[in-house]
Amino acid sequence: MMKAYNEIPKDPWYQNWKHSIEFIADTTAFFDKQVQKHGNIFRCQLFGFDYMRAQDADVTAILYKNSQDMVSTQGGWQPVFDGLFPNGLLMKDGKSHIVHRRIMQQAFNKKAMLVYFDCIKTWSNELALDLEKKQTVDFFPYIKQKTLDLALSMFLGFDTKNKLSTQVAKAFVDVVGATISIVRKPILNNKYHRGVKGRAHLKSIFLTLVKQRRENSSEDLVSFLCEATDEGGLSFSDEQIVDHIIFTMMAAHDTTASSLTSLMIQITQHSKWQDALILEAKQFTNISYEQLSDMHVADIVYKETLRVMPPIVTVPRVINVETNIHGFKIPAGTRTGINIYGNHHDERYWDNPYQFDPTRFERTDEKRHPYSYIPFGGGVHKCIGLYLATMEVKLIIQAIFSRLDVQRVQPDALIKYAKVPIMHPKNKFELRFNKLKR
Ligand code: HEM
Repeated sequence: MMKAYNEIPKDPWYQNWKHSIEFIADTTAFFDKQVQKHGNIFRCQLFGFDYMRAQDADVTAILYKNSQDMVSTQGGWQPVFDGLFPNGLLMKDGKSHIVHRRIMQQAFNKKAMLVYFDCIKTWSNELALDLEKKQTVDFFPYIKQKTLDLALSMFLGFDTKNKLSTQVAKAFVDVVGATISIVRKPILNNKYHRGVKGRAHLKSIFLTLVKQRRENSSEDLVSFLCEATDEGGLSFSDEQIVDHIIFTMMAAHDTTASSLTSLMIQITQHSKWQDALILEAKQFTNISYEQLSDMHVADIVYKETLRVMPPIVTVPRVINVETNIHGFKIPAGTRTGINIYGNHHDERYWDNPYQFDPTRFERTDEKRHPYSYIPFGGGVHKCIGLYLATMEVKLIIQAIFSRLDVQRVQPDALIKYAKVPIMHPKNKFELRFNKLKR
């Protein structure tokens, strides 16, 4: 006999006001606390909505497999992206998502990847030279700016030194910042208002760019999307391309900046892994696309970084069809989420889950569940930029660690983290880069 939805344990109503605040302050601690109080399945109130959370990989599997369109991704992300990123891939379900994703996939095929490879390789070498010159940087804001510059040139073909690039970067930061504003109405230049204005600005600049690329094709994401068709010959309109570009840039640059910062956090704490990265990087001077798969140390260090510190700790969904989860009857329309960070730290699937140990990716771990490692998500919405992100990080590792080593400026300082919208240090995280003695 299934139990009723309102029997799912939750805090008393007068504590609901705290949930959104605690979720923003420390998302994973908030979920851990709820699990401790109520067990694996609980309800909470986030940003004015009632949520059911079931924190384990079996439920993740049900939500990702999404048989018979049981789950809506668009509905899940709507409160976050509405008015800001309205038509990106995560704001589409079912047939419309499949059609758009198939066309988009053309911008991530081998031909496109080779173009991105050349662009990232040149940029990574410049990045390493800049770090060698600057020596000390507050790493997260530094790499965020740099990866945005990369996105501007690789996706839009912009010269990052011109005025338009500065305007785009500023508008972009405003749109992303607005995704976590609690007030969702554009009032008196508040965060959300700045985001909406930023989006309008980006849209007008990118529409002009799409028209230019339709006339004179180049080698960037915009051109690839102008040319992309599915098997039936379907292609995107100008407006659709603009929406996909804005969304893809958002999905691409913050996540990569977050994961690189986390990698630096881990290897400055576990120096034997930095030594191993240096040794490997020196073997791949003038690396080719094919050689990327031989960067074994970079591969396992990055995988483990994404396990311990996934850039996106949770993703939202809405349940479309009444269903049974852990013996409770879950009605259609229920909001829920997938607990990426939780699955990555669950003792049911990992030995010593809080320990940074890249060698676990060299072993076949008996305890592992098909959905216990999901930094790039799963199912039909699994990250389209997975290979691009990995290529970018490997090229950056190669460029930096073939020339430099890195230390924390304040090795004993406690790092505090923001976990939404993406994982990053809240306070200064200064790194010093030193030229390697050959
Ligand atoms: C470390 C880097 C990255 C991480 C951890 C990451 C993570 C994710 C996750 C978890 C999702 C699924 C969200 C959900 O299911 O609700 C996703 C989707 C997506 N990602 Fe990434 N991502 C990264 C880099 C990138 C890059 C470099 C790009 C583009 C060039 C990109 C573009 C996208 C897009 C377009 C989607 C939506 C796919 C769809 O709905 O079909 N991501 N990403």
